[in-house]
Amino acid sequence: MDQIQDQKQEPEIKIVLADESHVHYVDEILETIAAAAKVRGTGIAKRNPEYVKQKMIEGKAVLALCGDDFAGFSYIETWDNKQYVTTSGLIVPDRYRGKGLARRIKHMTFSLARKRWPEAKIFSLTSGAAVMKLNTQHGYKPVTFAQLTNDESFWHGCEGCVNFDVLQRTDRRYCICTGMLFDPNDPDCLAAAQKELDLDPTCRETIEAKYGPMPPYKLPEKESKTLLDKIKSLFK
Ligand SMILES: CC(C)(COP(=O)(O)OP(=O)(O)OC[C@H]1O[C@@H](n2cnc3c(N)ncnc32)[C@H](O)[C@@H]1OP(=O)(O)O)[C@@H](O)C(=O)NCCC(=O)NCCS
Repeated sequence: MDQIQDQKQEPEIKIVLADESHVHYVDEILETIAAAAKVRGTGIAKRNPEYVKQKMIEGKAVLALCGDDFAGFSYIETWDNKQYVTTSGLIVPDRYRGKGLARRIKHMTFSLARKRWPEAKIFSLTSGAAVMKLNTQHGYKPVTFAQLTNDESFWHGCEGCVNFDVLQRTDRRYCICTGMLFDPNDPDCLAAAQKELDLDPTCRETIEAKYGPMPPYKLPEKESKTLLDKIKSLFK
C-alpha cells in the first residue's frame, strides 16, 4: 500500500488559454499577486477583479492548472493603439515555484501576443531577475524608456510602486526597473524567440488550435535587390 502511495505522481500541470469558465480563479490570483508583492516590497499596479475577468473573457489570459488547483497566471495588454503589447501580472504560487512554470506561462503569453498582434513590439518593465531572464530567452533586449510606449495608461500602472517618485523626478526617463523590448522587425529578436519557443511545441499547438498558424519567426526576404547585388548574382 505504502509503495503504491509512494509511486503516486503529482497530476500533470497544464498551461491553458483562459476563458469565461476560469473567472472563479480571479480572487485567488489577485490575493496571490498581492501577497507576493508584499514579500518583494515593491508595491504593485492595482488590478481590479473585473479587469482580470475581462482579460479571461477576451482570451487574453493564461493559466497554469494542476488538476483544478491554481498554479500560475499571466495576461496580455495592448498599448498605444496596439502598437505595443506587454505580458503582465505573472505569478506562480510558492508551492509551484522552481518547476519551470513561469517559463511555460511566458511561452504562451508571448506566443499569444505574437499571434494576435504580429506587428506589435512586446515590452517589459521589470526589476525581477526571473522575468529579465525570461525576457532575454524570448529575444527581448534592454532599452531606454524612450523606446517604450508613451501610452499614459501604461505609466499610470507605476503609481502604486514604492519607487514611483524616482520615475517622476526623472521625467519618466529612468527608474529602478529595466526596460526590455522585443522588436518583431529585429532578426536577432526573432531568432532568439524561435529558439526558445521550439523547446515547447505544446504551446504552439495550443495557440494554433484556437487561432490558426503562428506568424513566421523570420523576416521576409527583401525583394528589391540593390544594383550591386544584381551584378554580384550575375557572376555567381
Ligand atoms: C517570478 C516567478 C513568476 C517565477 O516563477 P517560477 O515558476 O518559479 O519560475 P521558473 O521555474 O519558470 O523559472 C524561470 C527562470 O527564471 C529563473 N528564476 C526563477 N526564480 C528566480 C529568482 N528568484 N531569481 C533569479 N532567477 C530566477 C529560473 O532559474 C529560470 O531560468 P532557467 O529556465 O534558465 O533555469 C515567481 O517566483 C513569482 O510568482 N514571484 C512573485 C511574483 C513576481 O515576482 N512576478 C514577476 C513580476 S515582474
